[in-house]
Formats: sequence, C-alpha cells, structure tokens
Amino acid sequence: MFKKTLMAMALGGTVAATAQAGEVEVLHWWTSGGEARSIAVLKEMVQDAGHTWKDFAVAGGGGENAYTVLRSRAVSGNPPAAAQIKGLEIQEWGDLGFLASLEDVANENNWDQVLPEVVSDVMKHDGDYVAAPVNVHRVNWMWANPDVFENAGVEMPTTLDELWDAADQLKAAGVTPIAHGGQPWQDATTFESIVLAVGGADFFADVFVDHDAEALESDTMTQAFREFKKVKDYIDRGAPGRDWNVATSMVIRGEAAMQFMGDWAKGEFTAANMTPGEDYACLPFPGTQGEFTFNIDSLAMFKQRTASNSEAQMKMAELVLSPEFQETFNLNKGSIPARTDMDMSAFDSCALASMDTFKQTANSGEGLVPSMAHGMSTTSTVQGAIYDTVTEFFNSDMSAEDATTRLARAIRAAQ
Ligand code: BGC
Repeated sequence: MFKKTLMAMALGGTVAATAQAGEVEVLHWWTSGGEARSIAVLKEMVQDAGHTWKDFAVAGGGGENAYTVLRSRAVSGNPPAAAQIKGLEIQEWGDLGFLASLEDVANENNWDQVLPEVVSDVMKHDGDYVAAPVNVHRVNWMWANPDVFENAGVEMPTTLDELWDAADQLKAAGVTPIAHGGQPWQDATTFESIVLAVGGADFFADVFVDHDAEALESDTMTQAFREFKKVKDYIDRGAPGRDWNVATSMVIRGEAAMQFMGDWAKGEFTAANMTPGEDYACLPFPGTQGEFTFNIDSLAMFKQRTASNSEAQMKMAELVLSPEFQETFNLNKGSIPARTDMDMSAFDSCALASMDTFKQTANSGEGLVPSMAHGMSTTSTVQGAIYDTVTEFFNSDMSAEDATTRLARAIRAAQ
C-alpha cells in the first residue's frame, strides 16, 4: 500500500520548460560539530554556483529519523531534491521510480573512471547513476585518548583478548574504559566489528550479506555475541540513549579511554583541533587489522518538478564529485574521498591508513565488507530486525545461545 502510494506520487512529477537559477533542498542528518562543518562546504559551493540551498537537517545519528521524515515527504508528493540515502535504500527508492538519472553528469565527468566499482555499484539503479557519493567511511575503528592509556600504564589493544585485558586494567585504575552510546545503531556498529574480529571477513559476509543459515546458527556467531556482551562491563551508567558525538567528546576530554565508531568520529576530533598520533589515536578495531568495513555516504537525487531545480540539482551532483569538494568535505568529515585518483597530501595519518586498507582490500578482493549497521549490506527491514535482537541481547540477560537462535529467526522472518 505504502509502495503503491509512493509510486503514484513519483509518476506525478513533471518538468517545466525554462531553466534558470534553481533551489536544492537537501535532506541529511549531519548535525554534529564535524558533520555540520562538512555539509556547509557543499552549501557554499552550490550558492557560489548561483543556486539556492535549502537545508533540511533531521538530527539522529545513523539516519533512522531522517529516513522516516523522507518517507512522509515522499508520500505527500513533495520529496526534497536530494537526500542522504545510501546502500540498498537507494535501490528501493529507485524501484519506486522516484530517482532522477545522473547519467549526463556522470558521463561528462567520467564517474566510471574515477570511482572504484565497489562505490559506483551502490550509486547505480538499473545501470544508471541516481546518487552521487560524497565519501567512503571506514566503520571498524577504535578511537583512543593516549594520555588516559598512558596515565593508567596500559597498552593500546590490537586483539580482542588484549582489549578485555586493557579494559580490566583501565577499570581498575578508575577510568571508564569504553565510551558507548546505547542506541540500537551504535550497539550494531560495535557488534558488527566484533563479528568481523571473531569470524573474519568471509564469515561477516555470510552472516550480514548472504544471511547464510549455517553461519547464522554457528558457534562462531554465539562466540561473537558472548564477546559483544563483555562491552557492557566497561561502559558507564550514562551510556543508555547517549548520542555518538557525546561519547566521542568523553574520549576527547579524557573522561573515557576509547570509543568504537566509524571515522565520522574523527570529524569531532578535527573540529576540536586535535591531531592524530599526538592528541588522539586511531586504530583498527582490535582483531580487524587489514580489514575494512565500508559505509559510503551519498546524495540520491529525486525527480524535480521544474527545470531550474533540476538544473541546480545536476550542478550539485557535479560539484559533489569535484576534487575540491571531495577534499574539503572529507577533511572535515573524517572519511576518505570516494574518488581514488585524489592527491591525498592534505590528509592525516588516519585517512592515509584508511585509504591504504581500502585500496588493498578492494584490489585483493579480501577483507572488504559492507557495513550492516550502516545500511550497506541488507535492506532496512532486515537491518531493523538485526538491530532489535542485538540491542535486546545487550540490555537483557538473554544468553548468547538464545541470541544466536533469535537472530537467525528474525533475519529469516524479515527477508
Ligand atoms: C553516516 C555518517 C554519519 C553517522 C552518524 C552514518 O550512518 O554514514 O555520515 O556521520 O551515521 O550520524
């Protein structure tokens, strides 16, 4: 029913004849300090090109709130020009007939040549570009405050065993080891890194991409749940409901030793004028060295009713892929450019490490996996089912064995 209504709305759009300066309304959830600085770059470039920017920010990390608002705007026949949607969600909007083809812009600007396939595949619907990628985020990171580790005389962990050992020592020294935000998408972000550490990249793909029954019901899965539960021993009482950037600021201020989060967290360290390797450390999530969980942000373009707004929208798509935008946006955002032909000399050591691992895993075909927690590996329905089980497990006394059975069942039902 919902799909039918949306489809009718999509077909109702017409494009008028005259072209002039237009308006782009952009729906996104980039509202933290680092995120706001990043999106401001695009606003300025669009305005410099003579178009009007209408900001449509919907707060809420991970984007669930933004997606809800987008659906209701689309149902009322009035979607924004562009929306921060990604992964399989792009395909769903494409199937519904809402998205505008960016083929002309893409051909003129050689998108196929400058984007790696792992990125361009996600941006295309039925072979046509319908979304413009702004970046590549790596999710399997750990952010640490070196002073906190040093003062407690604790080494930074590189394996899961070392992690729990370090966390025990930090706790004994009176420090909150892990800054966590207890929201389903953040629970899922940590959980998927633990699945990667425990089972490796092939297992991760079996579980989160293929939903393979054997992998889902395996002892490895139960082991991942068991390890995930350990996190609970090392977080503070304020964790439930906490926003991710508030958790990052605990690490920035030395109130906690580390956070597990994608590299949008780096945007917060950058906004606080901190330098990696000196004021903070970025390490692969313990046990996931050489592996890369990717999360690609993109702006999908919705069909417009006027030629001037379409023109403004196409201009924005072109700007998004420009080297200038890809550099400045990503310096602020903490991610790496989606283009792989960029001069990286302005980027810091975390970004260089990320780009290195990204290229290596993409070229070898080993260790590169799509983030489940950030909508790259499953539909939002399956993702929601995983979130529910993971969060319920984390906050109850459900056993790891039960969680394994429930997750397999929930995924089957949601598919
Ligand atoms: C997005 C990031 C964003 C983060 C926190 C992720 O899903 O990909 O761009 O910074 O959520 O809101």
